[in-house]
Amino acid sequence: MRVAIASDHGGFRLKSEIIAFLHKEHIEYKDFGTYSDESVDYPDYALSVAEAVRLGDFTRGIICCGTGIGVSIAANKVAGIRAALCHDTFSARASREHNDANVLTMGERVIGVGLALDIVKIWLETEFQGGRHARRLEKISNIENGVCHGTEYK
Ligand code: RB5
Repeated sequence: MRVAIASDHGGFRLKSEIIAFLHKEHIEYKDFGTYSDESVDYPDYALSVAEAVRLGDFTRGIICCGTGIGVSIAANKVAGIRAALCHDTFSARASREHNDANVLTMGERVIGVGLALDIVKIWLETEFQGGRHARRLEKISNIENGVCHGTEYK
């Protein structure tokens, strides 16, 4: 398991807490910044993590911003990225079991550190269930690749 992690200024403190957790759990990670609470543009950091995961250099990605929304939108523009915005443990587990989410996003201004770390732990430990869910992911890939089979808007 190799985790790529990043944040903008709005998620910087939460990212630091998650890094401390990964370190404590001996989980390999790379911090793609930002490295202070000085204002930056969140798409730059979302893209670094998304690219690292897309290229296969990292198994999973975690990205924080103020809400988790901006980085989620940006990361999901990258082919092969399934970024899930999770602020509860049920969604975190489901995003792995059903959606094989390879990027987790969270908002520092939305949840506390305790819950965020529970979410990270569950999200990293939970396996994809495959089966019918794999078929659905294939349909998502088809959308990404511009291939639609009879379900186009008429
Ligand atoms: C930065 O102020 C804020 O817009 C950003 O962290 C994030 O919440 C965007 O979605």
